[in-house]
Amino acid sequence: MSDRKRSIAIAITGASGALYATRTMAALLEQGCHLELVISDYGRRLLRDELGETAAVDKLTDYLAAKYGDGIRAGSYTLYSNKDLGAKIASGSQNCEGMVVVPCSMKTLAGIAHGLSRNLVERAADVMMKERRTLIIVPRETPMSLPQLRNMTLCAEAGAMIMPAMPAFYQMPKTLDDLADFMAGKILSALGFPHALYPSWEG
Ligand SMILES: Cc1cc2nc3c(=O)[nH]c(=O)nc-3n(C[C@H](O)[C@H](O)[C@H](O)COP(=O)(O)O)c2cc1C
Repeated sequence: MSDRKRSIAIAITGASGALYATRTMAALLEQGCHLELVISDYGRRLLRDELGETAAVDKLTDYLAAKYGDGIRAGSYTLYSNKDLGAKIASGSQNCEGMVVVPCSMKTLAGIAHGLSRNLVERAADVMMKERRTLIIVPRETPMSLPQLRNMTLCAEAGAMIMPAMPAFYQMPKTLDDLADFMAGKILSALGFPHALYPSWEG
């Protein structure tokens, strides 16, 4: 059996819910994954606006280790510019097995739905769909317009999994971190990783 690290692309865009992104990153790093990371300009802003200056892109590893523990150092990540359409994940010949756009803005959703490939997030998502690999889109907006709903349908029809940022309350969450754990857990499950981010429902 290969001991190659599992490789997953993570895109962070400018929709509210930066905590979902950092929790997902930390959980995958703890599993020893290599993450191909791309963050849009507004995604960078969201990290700072919602989590504070210590979560700025250039300090992300230290932020994750301080918040989630040194277990995150089991994994690794490469950060790409969203303008770099020649990056590894812009090609179907790379070995990245799946991609998560978390959180996904309505603008990026529209770009993915219509195959625009205007930047690396959109191009990498397009690659995942054309190669029939796992693409998980975590949209966040409320309420939603008809074009936004149709864009989700287009992505789902093309094989993407639409996983709205809708944490459950039957787990009796007490903190924002509990809510983020739930969403990260759903993402890891969809990627086929075992985890203990939330207790399984026993009926
Ligand atoms: C603080 C803040 C919160 C935002 N929240 C959302 C949101 O929840 N959903 C959304 O679709 N756009 C949201 N936006 C708007 C997007 O960031 C904006 O449309 C941006 O152009 C998206 O670009 P990107 O997809 O390249 O990151 C927000 C913007 C700001 C500054």
